[in-house]
Amino acid sequence: MRTVHSIKELRTILRGYRQQDKTIGLVPTMGNLHEGHISLVRKAGEAADIVVTSIFVNPMQFGASEDLDTYPRTLAQDQEQLEAAGNTLVFAPNVEEVYPEGLARQTQVVVPDVSDGHCGASRPGHFEGVATVVTMLFNMVQPDVAVFGEKDFQQLTVIRKLVRDLCIPVEVIGAPTVREDDGLAKSSRNSYLSEGDRGIAPAMYRILEETGRKLAAGRSDFAALESEAKEAMVQAGLRPDYFNIVNSDTLKPATNEDTSLTLLVAAFLGTTRLIDNLTVTR
Ligand code: PAF
Repeated sequence: MRTVHSIKELRTILRGYRQQDKTIGLVPTMGNLHEGHISLVRKAGEAADIVVTSIFVNPMQFGASEDLDTYPRTLAQDQEQLEAAGNTLVFAPNVEEVYPEGLARQTQVVVPDVSDGHCGASRPGHFEGVATVVTMLFNMVQPDVAVFGEKDFQQLTVIRKLVRDLCIPVEVIGAPTVREDDGLAKSSRNSYLSEGDRGIAPAMYRILEETGRKLAAGRSDFAALESEAKEAMVQAGLRPDYFNIVNSDTLKPATNEDTSLTLLVAAFLGTTRLIDNLTVTR
């Protein structure tokens, strides 16, 4: 497995694979890889001949008060895991390679509607940062397929829309969330949790499941269900950011006509912000 840091080198290597008629799968990551990321790499390996994993902590998607400086950077361990998972190429550019003119002078990609609300409301500019870097990675790698985790449900929706709207010739594949035995969704940010908070964190998924069961049983008083879920989170020791029941495609508030509903949740434990989701079909 090779690791390259420049776009030029990346393109040279990928040109060689394309000349051999190999298909290319991309897994964009910010590194600090765990089993969730590795499941994306394996999925990409099922869908394409060559798997490129990008590792880039993208400053454009972090707010001023967020964890950009402390975000774990663990390239050596990441490389070991990727090698074992059958990844072909690691693309690990530095910030100057991706944004040579600086963030302020960078063209940005804005994906309307689905970027608004939920994490978009709590983290202004976040999805512009994600959409911009993912569009750039698509142009750098020109993959046939790209795999993203369903754990970041709103992000996946934003990326699907940007690919549609900008006619980018890539198939976007969503991969199921990988969970710990107690239900907590695997996330790089779980490592920030104190022992006590780690004990509380699985309540998020428990409450998603409880609310999902209530919906499946026929309840459709969405606002009341959201309030009950937030109250249950507070009782469990979480500080809810939002708990929203939405149409799975548009991410707009759920209505009685919707057949697929997604429950989107974000909550704080100390200063750590965790997200999760659950989709229910009726
Ligand atoms: O999900 C992530 O890790 C990031 O948002 C992504 C898609 C790699 C863009 O920086």
